[in-house]
Amino acid sequence: MRKALPVRASASCGDVAELFQCDPGLAALAVVGEDGRTAIGLADRNTFLLHFAQRYGRELYTKRPVLHLADRSPLLVPLDTPISALGEQISTHRPDALHRGFVLLSPNGHYAGIGLGIDVMRLTAEQMTLTLERLQNTQRELIQREKMAALGGLVAGVAHEINTPLGVAVTAVSAFAQETARFHQAYRDGTLRRPDLEDYVSSAGEAADFIQGNLSRAADLVQSFKKVAVDQTNDLPRQFDLGDYITEVLRSLQPRLRRSVHTVIPELPRGIVVDSAPGAIAQIITNLVMNALIHAFGDAPGIITISLSQGASPDLLMLAIGDDGRGISASDLPYIFDPFFTTRRDQGGTGLGLHVVYNLVTQRLGGRIDVASTPGQGTRFIITFPLRLPRA
Ligand SMILES: Nc1ncnc2c1ncn2[C@@H]1O[C@H](COP(=O)(O)OP(=O)(O)OP(=O)(O)O)[C@@H](O)[C@H]1O
Ligand SMILES: [Mg+2]
Repeated sequence: MRKALPVRASASCGDVAELFQCDPGLAALAVVGEDGRTAIGLADRNTFLLHFAQRYGRELYTKRPVLHLADRSPLLVPLDTPISALGEQISTHRPDALHRGFVLLSPNGHYAGIGLGIDVMRLTAEQMTLTLERLQNTQRELIQREKMAALGGLVAGVAHEINTPLGVAVTAVSAFAQETARFHQAYRDGTLRRPDLEDYVSSAGEAADFIQGNLSRAADLVQSFKKVAVDQTNDLPRQFDLGDYITEVLRSLQPRLRRSVHTVIPELPRGIVVDSAPGAIAQIITNLVMNALIHAFGDAPGIITISLSQGASPDLLMLAIGDDGRGISASDLPYIFDPFFTTRRDQGGTGLGLHVVYNLVTQRLGGRIDVASTPGQGTRFIITFPLRLPRA
């Protein structure tokens, strides 16, 4: 609110022109009735002076009452009107108030001051900034909460997964401990015979194998779980030629590829220099290529293609990894990125490979991953990510 003394309706245009000329900061003046309190008009500087200064204006208006050059139905706004409601009213009913201003009224309906459109705009903008900040905070909180929920689910899943091999190993160990106690007793009693010794040695061997198998399964699970938490400390971003780098990664997979009948066809242009996280990229490629080798093909030779190209905009890249294997069924497809989803649990799959890939792409590279698969024809993963790592 701007506190400007109002002028009486009896004031002349000449008087008001003088007031405007003396005070260049005066944007508008309210006109009040003879009681000095009831607002009956509003003279805004621009409109008033425009008319007053035009040809013959001065001659015509100097002696006339101010209402001749004032708005006789100004927007009247009670002082307690919220800014949002006022903004709404101005934009839908009184857009003229934006440049003319409006009259503020005290609770008893008396003139209280002048309001200007620019003030409303400034306050609205301030309020919008606050609202935006609040929204951003809420969004951050939601993301954090979602992360925690995802982590909770992951921990529960890991505990469940590890529980099986550990439980089996514990049972095997206690059975073996009982057998050892019996063996010991027989030895002390002097009733031990040669076949007893042979039995014991062979079951000791079996128990050791069994326990070792289950413990290493548990250890593998712990290893995979460690990779799930995207470790950013060991993977410092740097500049490198992405095509060259991927070629290097593929070279490291050669020993494994050579043992298979499958072929990798890379389409990797050189000269695409990225500022990104090499460790994450290596891990993503390794997981996807290994998946194709393990899941996509049977005995028949298959083809894995890896291609790198420009994305939808100059700062985006597209990395596509595909195979012409058996594909993924429509019922499995929605779950492949979930932790612990695997169709090969009995052959040692943990179901964390694609979950790790998903986390690396979205969290580390700031990109997205899409998958398309047609049973019988193959699977294609498309990763879109920025050339430059988003700085936190
Ligand atoms: N290229 C592919 N072709 C066919 N199926 C695939 C392919 N890639 C992944 N899948 C399916 O998606 C599932 C999940 O893959 P993911 O890498 O997460 O787990 P996994 O390979 O089974 O186990 P892990 O990678 O943890 O050892 C696989 O079990 C498989 O059914
Ligand atoms: Mg895998």
